[in-house]
Amino acid sequence: MRVLGIETTCDETAAAVVRLQPGGGGEILSNEVMSQIAEHAAYGGVVPEIAARAHIEVLDRLVVRALERAGVRLADLDGVAAAAGPGLIGGVIVGLTMAKALALASRKPFIAVNHLEAHALTARLTDGLSFPYLLLLVSGGHTQLVAVKGVGDYVRLGSTVDDAVGEAFDKVAKLLGLPYPGGPQVEIAAARGDPTRFDFPRPMQGRAKPDFSLSGLKTAVRLEAQRIGAPSGRDVADLCASFQAAVVDTLIDRSRAGLRLFRETVGPCDAMVVAGGVGANGAIRRALGRFCGESGLKLVLPPPHLCTDNGAMIAWAGIERLSLGLTDDMTFAGRPRWPLDSNAEAAHHGKA
Ligand code: KG4
Ligand code: ZN
Repeated sequence: MRVLGIETTCDETAAAVVRLQPGGGGEILSNEVMSQIAEHAAYGGVVPEIAARAHIEVLDRLVVRALERAGVRLADLDGVAAAAGPGLIGGVIVGLTMAKALALASRKPFIAVNHLEAHALTARLTDGLSFPYLLLLVSGGHTQLVAVKGVGDYVRLGSTVDDAVGEAFDKVAKLLGLPYPGGPQVEIAAARGDPTRFDFPRPMQGRAKPDFSLSGLKTAVRLEAQRIGAPSGRDVADLCASFQAAVVDTLIDRSRAGLRLFRETVGPCDAMVVAGGVGANGAIRRALGRFCGESGLKLVLPPPHLCTDNGAMIAWAGIERLSLGLTDDMTFAGRPRWPLDSNAEAAHHGKA
């Protein structure tokens, strides 16, 4: 089974072809990503209208390239999948319409994929992991702990009450004058800094419900930077290192609470998966490695380029759904908001 996957929900235009392997897991035949970072950099964040137009400009060529690199024609595919949300609706419509048109023209099944579900299932693409597992989803728009019980079967254990973790990284970078997107820049600066110089808060620490709060931490960094006045390179490095240390402690404490809730309410859990762009952060990856070692969990960390937005994860989610006979028709509309867990209250933090 081979599926083409298209991703256009944020500032990455991506197309990929993935093949289901006989023993489970997937083989990535091609994985084309074009980042719009340059287009948005001047604004210090993603501008929805610019994003939608940029997707239109490159998506057709990117799809052709993904098919060529995979060595397949449209006729060889078993389905065409696109991320249908959640995300910036202008971009979502671009990818969704392209996928519908390709499916229609080639008479292949069309699969509308939830972008969050695609992040959640990536560990099954890379490692053939079996259900259930604990998912820590940390991206620019989402911060959640989820019990992944099966395809389409998710229980949200906790989420952020304010900023997403990636958003906090990006805002801290911006207030310290680091270039956009900030997450990787903060990590680079932090590597040269002293994580103990500033004692920033660890919001929600010790609470039983595995929720997150990041905005107080971000404010604490801002106040410290203002107190310093004109931070030197050393100050910026120390601020980044101390901020990142607070994020790491928070993520571990919240993961511990999430694991406890999982085991109490869902059942046994012996694996943890990290997904979303923040999962590319080395300090976070190392800390989660220690946590999982202590907690008897197998840790699955997809490689950084499969943690950030990509087409392979959409193609793989398409394969998972298609394998279960789950396809969609041409009336499927893009969704700016689309919670993974339909039972969880709709007050989740939107991607923007
Ligand atoms: O999953 P993703 O590519 O897009 C969304 O769906 O949001 O995640 C992007 C987010 C951005 O906030 C970015 O700053 C953050 O992930 N990020 C990082 C790192 N790489 C990307 N944050 C911290 N450290 C990194 N190395
Ligand atoms: Zn994402």
